[in-house]
Amino acid sequence: MGIKVIILTVALLSLSNCFFPTKTPIDLNHLPALTNMTFPEAMNYLNYPVETHYITTQDGYILTFFRIQAKNTTIKSGLPVVYFQHGLEDSSDTICLNDEENAPGLLIANEGYDLWLGNSRGNRYSLNHTKYTTSDKQFWQFTFQHMGEYDVPAAFEYISKATNQKINYIGHSQGTIQMFVALSRHEKKVLNNLKSYIALGPVAWVGQIKSVLLRSMGESKPLIDAIIATGIQQFLPYKQEEVLPLLCTYVPQLCGLTLEALMDMNDSYDNLKRMNIFVGHLPAGTSTLNMRHWAQNIRSKEYRYFDYGTAGNYLHYGQAKAPKIEVEKINVPVHLFVGQTDELADVSDVEILRQNLIGSPNVTYNLYPFGHASFLIGKNVTFMNDVFAVLNDYNQKETKIQF
Ligand SMILES: *[C@@H]1O[C@H](CO)[C@@H](O)[C@H](O)[C@H]1NC(C)=O
Ligand SMILES: *[C@@H]1O[C@H](CO)[C@@H](O)[C@H](O)[C@H]1NC(C)=O
Ligand SMILES: *[C@@H]1O[C@H](CO)[C@@H](O)[C@H](O)[C@H]1NC(C)=O
Ligand SMILES: *[C@@H]1O[C@H](CO)[C@@H](O)[C@H](O)[C@H]1NC(C)=O
Ligand SMILES: *[C@@H]1O[C@H](CO)[C@@H](O)[C@H](O)[C@H]1NC(C)=O
Ligand SMILES: *[C@@H]1O[C@H](CO)[C@@H](O)[C@H](O)[C@H]1NC(C)=O
Repeated sequence: MGIKVIILTVALLSLSNCFFPTKTPIDLNHLPALTNMTFPEAMNYLNYPVETHYITTQDGYILTFFRIQAKNTTIKSGLPVVYFQHGLEDSSDTICLNDEENAPGLLIANEGYDLWLGNSRGNRYSLNHTKYTTSDKQFWQFTFQHMGEYDVPAAFEYISKATNQKINYIGHSQGTIQMFVALSRHEKKVLNNLKSYIALGPVAWVGQIKSVLLRSMGESKPLIDAIIATGIQQFLPYKQEEVLPLLCTYVPQLCGLTLEALMDMNDSYDNLKRMNIFVGHLPAGTSTLNMRHWAQNIRSKEYRYFDYGTAGNYLHYGQAKAPKIEVEKINVPVHLFVGQTDELADVSDVEILRQNLIGSPNVTYNLYPFGHASFLIGKNVTFMNDVFAVLNDYNQKETKIQF
């Protein structure tokens, strides 16, 4: 634990540029090309057809979504649709940056799917709003519950209209916590357009979380208070001029430990050689309020809406206490993909989720010998066969691309 905390501190300080106050000159030429590319640049580089779409939510956030299809093809209509939603402090990028034969996004595209990749409000690609700029405090007043209430429904409506198809949703981490919010609320735009729901590293209850960063925020009130006291609304925003990619090129193990503060990483099943590319895209940014929401639920060991305090709760919810997120109301099939050593989606927390999914007509559960990040950066992506098996069940008339 001690070494992890030190590394976490160094990582946070370096990310916030306090540790290296003068911008360390980094020779970007020593980095792999993909390290500092935006998503469309990376797809062009790898020769996957890519489109950019802007989706405006009911509360004014303008989200940037990307759409890709099989390598060496052009975007066409009629393919079965997958919408893949990333996790906390993450973006569309990491879904497609593992080795080409192991990156889940690229595998899905090459399997003949029309793949849409979301970017949550407040990450590096989704910093626009119809009324506010990122310097306005109002812009940052959101947590994952607003992603479930607004982002997911807006995306379902947009993608189903654009493709004239129902949607297979794959969430990773926070991409699942927001989907559980949307489904428990019976958001019509989601339910009307949903084909299947696959949850990778699923999170709802987070009382047993082991991620050092989140655990510390959950348990140490002084830490979260100190962050709030700074008045910083944006938490770990994306920075181009990072030291981490270089560190990862030369000492992948150490670099792995750094990201381990946020997620878990383990050389025996994660592709640490690819870390220098990954950290060029991480962290991707979110709101401090969102981190507080995670911290609240870690502390309370409950899955609740954001606690604004008694007065604020009356204002937002008409009651003194923040309401429970009613997982038992979820009435669609849920396919859980769980990592045995996942430090964010701890198996015992997933078990609470599973036991509360009493309204779902079909809950399936697959357990794999790896961690939270392995779904994106794993060395062994055999689990993707099981993902395709579920997708095939829902897409009998699957359109395969013949190379
Ligand atoms: C990435 O780094 C290369 C090499 O320094 C540079 O030419 C390119 O402009 C950078 N790309 C971005 C998006 O910053
Ligand atoms: C894509 O095109 C490149 C260059 O022509 C070729 O080497 C590669 O095998 C192709 N890959 C696929 C999956 O079609
Ligand atoms: C988002 O904001 C930036 C900076 O103000 C602007 O350049 C860009 O065109 C905006 N994009 C969209 C989709 O509104
Ligand atoms: C990494 O995984 C291996 C094999 O599961 C395990 O023996 C080892 O303790 C793990 N290392 C860490 C740092 O968790
Ligand atoms: C990959 O993982 C699967 C189970 O998820 C296991 O059966 C298989 O042996 C693993 N392959 C390698 C090369 O480790
Ligand atoms: C539940 O879903 C799995 C995966 O798609 C499928 O194989 C199974 O037949 C389903 N079971 C029921 C009872 O629908």
